[in-house]
Amino acid sequence: MGRINIKTAKKKIPVTKNLYGIFLEDINRAVDGGLYPEMLRNRSFEDSIPPIECTLEDDGYAIVSPTGWRDEFNHGEGLTRWIRQNEVPYTPIPAWYSKRTKMELDTSDTLNIHRQAALAVHFREGGIIYNTGFCGIPQKNGASYKFYMFAKAEKPIKLIVSISEGDKVYASAEITVNSNTYSLYQATLVSDGDTRKAKFMISCPMGGMLKIGFVSLMPEDTYLGHGLRKDIVEKLKDMNPRFFRFPGGCIVEGFTPSTVMRFRNTVGPVWERPGHQLMWHYRTYNGLGFHEYLQLCEDLDMEPLYVFNCGMTCQARKEVLMEGPELEDMLQDTLDAIEYAIGPVDSKWGALRAKMGHPEPFRLNMVEIGNENFGEAYEERYIKCYNAIKERYPHIRFVANTHVEKHGLPVDIVDEHYYNTTEFFAENTDMYHSYDRKGPEIFLGEVSVVRGYVGQFYGALGEAAFFTGIEKNQDIVTMVSYAPLLENVNYNAWFPNLIRFNNTECYGIPSYYVWKLFGTHRGDYIVESTEETDRIYRPVKGMASLMGAADLVYRNAVWNGTKVEISHELMGRVEESSGIFTIRTPDTQQREESSRFHGVNPDEIFVIFGEEDVTSGTFEIDIRAEQNRE
Ligand code: AHR
Repeated sequence: MGRINIKTAKKKIPVTKNLYGIFLEDINRAVDGGLYPEMLRNRSFEDSIPPIECTLEDDGYAIVSPTGWRDEFNHGEGLTRWIRQNEVPYTPIPAWYSKRTKMELDTSDTLNIHRQAALAVHFREGGIIYNTGFCGIPQKNGASYKFYMFAKAEKPIKLIVSISEGDKVYASAEITVNSNTYSLYQATLVSDGDTRKAKFMISCPMGGMLKIGFVSLMPEDTYLGHGLRKDIVEKLKDMNPRFFRFPGGCIVEGFTPSTVMRFRNTVGPVWERPGHQLMWHYRTYNGLGFHEYLQLCEDLDMEPLYVFNCGMTCQARKEVLMEGPELEDMLQDTLDAIEYAIGPVDSKWGALRAKMGHPEPFRLNMVEIGNENFGEAYEERYIKCYNAIKERYPHIRFVANTHVEKHGLPVDIVDEHYYNTTEFFAENTDMYHSYDRKGPEIFLGEVSVVRGYVGQFYGALGEAAFFTGIEKNQDIVTMVSYAPLLENVNYNAWFPNLIRFNNTECYGIPSYYVWKLFGTHRGDYIVESTEETDRIYRPVKGMASLMGAADLVYRNAVWNGTKVEISHELMGRVEESSGIFTIRTPDTQQREESSRFHGVNPDEIFVIFGEEDVTSGTFEIDIRAEQNRE
């Protein structure tokens, strides 16, 4: 039995308006085939094209195949055409993949300079190709679907486009491609049945040659008509999110300079938006771009938080630093983005916004400089971006990835990420009690239980317990969001994710209901309370956890007042340096690692290693013991 005493008159803290928000990153195919309900897989035929920096196989070949597209005998995706880099392609497999249809990627005669491939199809009479969709094409009885393609043919060619499953045809339309330059062809397909797993077919009764430069099939019924999948947006809306961090995450950082997220690639007509390989192992067509993200913020009344690349690739993978003109161009890309969001209609990017149907400026009051970046190289780029943006847009507030204020850099908000166990969250409700109130605000941009009872009620309880501590510290912790947000259950790359979906349904994991509960019941003030209980809370003293890239947690630690000793086979020293710990190994001097400092309190140290493969040993970690729980 217990009792809670609430002292309404004492120590009132007004609630922070935007405390609970959402963070969306395109991981687990969250976007194409999900929130952005494109139904055709590989609509630009570029899925199998590797990033320019990718080293080819030892034999000097790259794989290029029409992923998602097949002929009537199920050939296509599985068949691989090998081309030698910078050489004339040759076709080692038979020219006729099947009796009636031949498909080939054409990487020279594409729709526009932004497209790297087109699909060349040679139909014999009655030939068929089909698209698999993202594990099937869903259909809803009576619903309309908008189909369009940019195509050309040397001689007019009659096609039937249909959505079908076996002998059942849900919808179909006839299209004649009669232009020998790429032109737009469209049809509205109205379905007469329900299914999850139809195929999108293009058949050609009379035969002929066709080239497709870009193709799309999307439902007409979207959230407020703004192109996003209704049930998923409604699920987000129900959380009452007050801010929206986008577009990532690691995808902002990229794993090579060409795979970095760039604003300029995500605006304008979708068929002119260059695509690229994402960090999470598939390609984006950037249909959900900067404009669409800002529109979603407006539709759900969320404060946008744009995360941009500050001139470096993901440090947890392979750090590549941009310098000189490349760095300047990266920074200019961000300035252009801001101009797109809030610049006047007579500015270059403001004019494009108006052309895209939004002459009024969007809202943009916060930006985040990089994602999970740290160290000297980060701080150099941080201040460069900060100064350039501040000079032009003084109202904008800045979010940093580490505690840059400890090195004298200006910052409004610091973003800390916590992926940990239920117990970690439950035991750290007091984590922010001792934070310096004169320091920057804290944003917990990525929070979730990822070990132990993952995705289950117990994990959700841990997050809820942690929130009780956050709620009490809203004067310093001003924003918090779960990560990752969305998962297509057929393309899982990370677990857990807050909302899971397939082609027709979506649901929240238990944590979703915790976030929704806290997000929708905000109150006006936090008041002091005490509890009386016969239960004894036993803090886990002297525990420390190190999380390596292999997701290992080390918990063999001894607390001795100011030091935590962790079992480890190497002797090392961890020194605090503006949010970064450096580990030195006096015995070999070989293991010198920069590690991301994620949080510290007297009872727990949480450090994320970049490429760590340690198993056991002893570290000495100097920390300040500001409080000592009994
Ligand atoms: O949420 C998944 C990933 O975790 C994000 O991309 C990154 O910021 C973090 O490391």
